[in-house]
Amino acid sequence: MCGIIGHVGEGNAIDALLTGLENLEYRGYDSAGVAVQNGSGIEIRKRSGRLSELKTSLLGEQLEGEVGIGHTRWSTHGPPTDENAHPHTGATDDVAVVHNGIVENYAELRERLREHGHEFTSDTDTEVIPHLIGQYVAEGMATEAAFRRAVGELEGSYAVAAMVSDERAIYAARQGSPLVVGVEDEGVFLASDVPAFLEYTDTVAYLEDGDVAVIHPGGIELTDLAGRSVTRELRTVDWDPEQTAKGTYDHFMLKEIHEQPTALAQTVEGRVDRRSGAATLAEFEPGDFAGIDRVQLIACGTSYHAALYGSLLLNDAGVDSRALLANEYGDRSPPVDEGTLVIAVTQSGETADTLSALRRATAAGARTLTVTNVVGSTATRIADDRILIRAGPEIGVAATKTFSSQAVVLALLADRIARDRGDDSPLGPTLVSALKTLPRQIERVLSSTDAGAIARRYHGSRSYFFIGRGLGYPVALEGALKFKEITYEHAEGFAAGELKHGPLALVTPETPVFAVFTGEEDARTLKSAEEAATRGAPIVALCPADHRATAVADAHLEIPDAPPETAGLLANVGLQLVSYHAADLLERPIDKPRNLAKSVTVE
Ligand code: AGP
Repeated sequence: MCGIIGHVGEGNAIDALLTGLENLEYRGYDSAGVAVQNGSGIEIRKRSGRLSELKTSLLGEQLEGEVGIGHTRWSTHGPPTDENAHPHTGATDDVAVVHNGIVENYAELRERLREHGHEFTSDTDTEVIPHLIGQYVAEGMATEAAFRRAVGELEGSYAVAAMVSDERAIYAARQGSPLVVGVEDEGVFLASDVPAFLEYTDTVAYLEDGDVAVIHPGGIELTDLAGRSVTRELRTVDWDPEQTAKGTYDHFMLKEIHEQPTALAQTVEGRVDRRSGAATLAEFEPGDFAGIDRVQLIACGTSYHAALYGSLLLNDAGVDSRALLANEYGDRSPPVDEGTLVIAVTQSGETADTLSALRRATAAGARTLTVTNVVGSTATRIADDRILIRAGPEIGVAATKTFSSQAVVLALLADRIARDRGDDSPLGPTLVSALKTLPRQIERVLSSTDAGAIARRYHGSRSYFFIGRGLGYPVALEGALKFKEITYEHAEGFAAGELKHGPLALVTPETPVFAVFTGEEDARTLKSAEEAATRGAPIVALCPADHRATAVADAHLEIPDAPPETAGLLANVGLQLVSYHAADLLERPIDKPRNLAKSVTVE
C-alpha cells in the first residue's frame, strides 16, 4: 500500500507534492512526509497521522525545492510514528527515499549494513534502501549505479523513489507495486496512481516490473535493471480531474454512490445489442470463449462479492463456475486446464493477493482475464485479456460504484461466454432489457429518504445482520462488509437459509435483520426473516412496494421492480446508503476508515 509522489521541474515542487499526497491519501493515511531539494541539500518534513497534520506543521514555513518526493503511509513494519514516516534517509542526509511495498530481506540487509557502521532510526523495512544507496555512493559509485545495485538487492515488492542532495533528478524503480509517470510542459511527475497528478497532466506512462527511471526536468530515461533501454507507451487518460474531486458532496463515498447511474451507463455503452438482446463485448473476437469449460473467479473483499454475483450468473447461463477468495487460491485451489478461464476481479488491478492468484493460475496453464477499473494496472498487464469496467475513479476506501460496474460486466461476460460455447443462454434478453432501465431505477433508490430514516431508527443496535438468497446472498455479504467497514459496528451477512443453522442464536430485539428480496424464491427468504422476527429481531425488507414481505417487516427500503439479475444491484445501492448514513451519524471518517486502505498491495 502507501502512496508515492515525485516531481521534477520548474518552480517550487511543494504544492504539487502536497496536492499529489492529498489525492493519494486513499492508499494509506498513517503518516505523511515530503522531501525537497534545492541544490544545496535535502529538507525533510514528516508527521504521523493524516496529511492535514503535516500541512499544519508546514504553515508559515518557506520550504522550497524544484525536486521533491512525498509519501503517505499504510503501516506494515513499525507503528505509525514520526520516525517511521517516509521519506527515510541513510547514514547521512544526502539520500532520501520513499517506498511502497515490502522489503522481505530487510533484516538481513540491515545486519550487513550494521557491519559497515550503519545505524537505523526507524522500525521500517524501507530504511535499508537509502543506507544501501549511500553505502555504494561512499564506495565510489555514481548515484544511478548505486541506486540500481541497491534495488537489485531487494527481495519482495517495491515502488521506490530516491533523490540525492546535489542532483536535479529522481531515481525510481518498480517491482510488484505500481508506478506511473506523468509528463507536463513544466516538468515530470512520478506517482503510485494517476489521480495524484491529474490536475496537472493527463499524459502518462505506466512503468512495468523491473523498470528503472531517471527523471530529469527535461525528460525520463527508462531502462531495465541491467541498464538496457526500454520504452513505455505515452498515453492520455480520459479521466476528468473534476471526477476526482468531492464537489458538493460531504464525502467521496456519497458522491460515488450517486455516480452509479452514470457509471453503469458508461460500463454498458457499446457492449450490448439491444435488438437481439445479447452481450457483444467487442473486446473479444466472435467465438473467443468457445473452448471454455469452466470459469474460476478470483478476488478479495467487495470484488469477491461481485465475483460471487458473476459466478451465479455464469452458472445460470450454463457455464460451470465458482468464485474463490484470491488469498485462499493456492495449492488447494481447484484444478485448472486449458479449458479453464480464470477471471481476476479487482477494482484497482493492484491487489497483491489477487495478482499472486492470477500468476498462479497462469503458471498452472489457465487462460486469464482481468476485470478492472484501472487502465494500465498490473492486473491488466499480467492477464491474457482485460475488460475495463469504466466506472471512473473511485477514491472512497469503501468500494461502491465499482461493485455495481464489476457485477454488470460479469453479467455481460456470462452471456457472451455462454453464447460462444453454443449454450442456449437464457440470460441475454432479460439482462439487456434490465440494464436499460437500471440507471433510472438507481436514481429512484438514490432519491428516497428511506435509507437515512432506517439508519437513524436502528442507530445504537448491538449488531446488524444481512440475509439474502441466490443473487441476494452476495448482496447480503456486501451489505455487511460495507456496514462494518465504515461504521465500525458489528455486521454479518448470511445466506438466508443458513440463519437457522447457527446465527439465529445471536438474534435479539437489538439486532436488526436486513432481508434482501431479489425475486428468487422470496417465500423462503421471507420464512428466514420471519424466524428472526419471531425471536424479536426488527426486520428491514429490501423489496418492491407491493411485496408481501412489507406486511411482516418493521421497516421497508423500497427497491423498484426488476428481474433478479439487477434487483440485487438495486438493493445493494439501498444498503450502501444505509451504511453511509449510519457511519455519518457515528461521525466516522467515512472515506478513510481506520486501519484500511483503498488498494492492498501487500499479501
Ligand atoms: C471494499 O470496500 C474494500 N475496500 C476492499 O474489500 C476491496 O474491495 C478489496 O481490497 C479488493 O480491492 P480490489 O478490488 O482493488 O482488488
